[in-house]
Amino acid sequence: MKMNYWTVENNVDINESCPQIVEASQFIKNNEVVAFPTETVYGLGANAKSDEAVDKIFAAKGRPSDNPLIVHISNKDQLNELVSGIPDAAQTLMNKFWPGPLTIIFNKREGVLSEKVTAGLDSVGIRMPDHPVALALIEAADLPVAAPSANVSGRPSPTAANHVTQDLDGKISGIIDGGETGVGVESTVVDCTSEIPVILRPGGVTREQLEEAAGPVEVDPSLAKGEGAPKSPGMKYTHYAPDAPMILAEGTKEWVQSLIDEKRNAGLKAGVLTTEENKNFYQADKILACGFRSDLNSVAHSLYDVLRSFNESDVDIIFSETFPTDGVGMAVMNRLQKAAGHNLIKES
Ligand code: TXA
Ligand code: MG
Repeated sequence: MKMNYWTVENNVDINESCPQIVEASQFIKNNEVVAFPTETVYGLGANAKSDEAVDKIFAAKGRPSDNPLIVHISNKDQLNELVSGIPDAAQTLMNKFWPGPLTIIFNKREGVLSEKVTAGLDSVGIRMPDHPVALALIEAADLPVAAPSANVSGRPSPTAANHVTQDLDGKISGIIDGGETGVGVESTVVDCTSEIPVILRPGGVTREQLEEAAGPVEVDPSLAKGEGAPKSPGMKYTHYAPDAPMILAEGTKEWVQSLIDEKRNAGLKAGVLTTEENKNFYQADKILACGFRSDLNSVAHSLYDVLRSFNESDVDIIFSETFPTDGVGMAVMNRLQKAAGHNLIKES
C-alpha cells in the first residue's frame, strides 16, 4: 500500500481546515487507517463506528482482537452519544484533565460503536487528547476515532513519526508527522465504572494528580504483579520489549557495572539503559541515557526511543537502572517491568 506522508509545521496554526488535515480525515471517513501524533504517543486512527475500519487497525498492528481500543474525541459533547451515563468522579476528572493524557472507562451506550473497538465488553475507554493535530483530525473526520498506539503489537509505542514508519510502512494509508510527542508514555487508564476509580494503566496523569482532583483512587492489584519478585517461570510479557533480553537492576551503579562486566567477561555484548547523570560512569557495549534522573518527565519522554535504539545495536543483553515510582515514575517503571518481562534483580 502506498503510504501518504503529511507534515505539519510546528509554528503553524493547526485546525480542521488545514489541507493536510482535510486530506487525512478523508481517509478516516472512508474507513481507512491513518497514524497521527497525540501528546502521549502516536496513534493509529480509524472510524470507531465501522467494523471494517477497526479490523484494519487490528490487522496492521497484529493486535489480539480481545484487547479493546481507546476511542478519541475532540469535544466533550461527543461523549453523550457514546456512553450510557457519566458518573460524578468521571465528570470531575474530565473537567480537570481533558484534553489530556487520561483515558476514562465508562459503561458504553449499546449499538453506537463497532463491537470490535470494545472487544465485546460493556465498557468503553474514551479520551480527548491534548494535541492540535489529533484534535483537528477528529474534528475534520466528524467521527469518534478509535486509536491504539501506532506500533506493531509488542513493540515500544511510537513517539516520533519515524518509529511509526519502522513498524507500519506500507500497512496503513498514511501518517501525519507532527514531530516528537511530549509526554512519551501513554495515557493513564482509569476505570470509573466502579464506586472508587481504579487505575488500570499508569500514564501521563499521575495517581497523585487524580487523587487531588477526585479523592481516593485505587490501583489495579495486577499492576504490582512481579514487582520486586523473581521472574515467574512461563510468564512471558513481550510488551515494549527490545529485541535483546532486558534485566532491571536495582542497586548502585558500581553493582550494575559489575553485572555488565560479568556478561562481557563471558563474551557477551552488554548494553545499559541509564540517565544523563550516570552515563559517563559506565563501561559497556551500548550506553543509552534516558533523560535526567532528576526529572522523571524527561525519562518518560525518551523511554520508548531509547528502547527502540537498543535494536540498532547488536547487544546480547541490556541492564536497566530502575526509577522511583512516584509521579510519572509509576508509568515509567510499569513499562520497564513489561519490557523486561518483570525480570528485576536487587543488589543484596
Ligand atoms: O496515550 C494513549 O492512550 C495512546 C494514544 C494513541 O491515545 N493510545 C493507547 O492505546 O495507548 P492502546 O490501544 O495501545 O492501549 C489501550 C489500553 C489497553 O491497555 C486496553 O486494554 C485498555 O486501554 N482499554 C481500552 N478499553 C478498555 C476497556 N473498555 N476496559 C478496560 N481497559 C480498556
Ligand atoms: Mg499500545
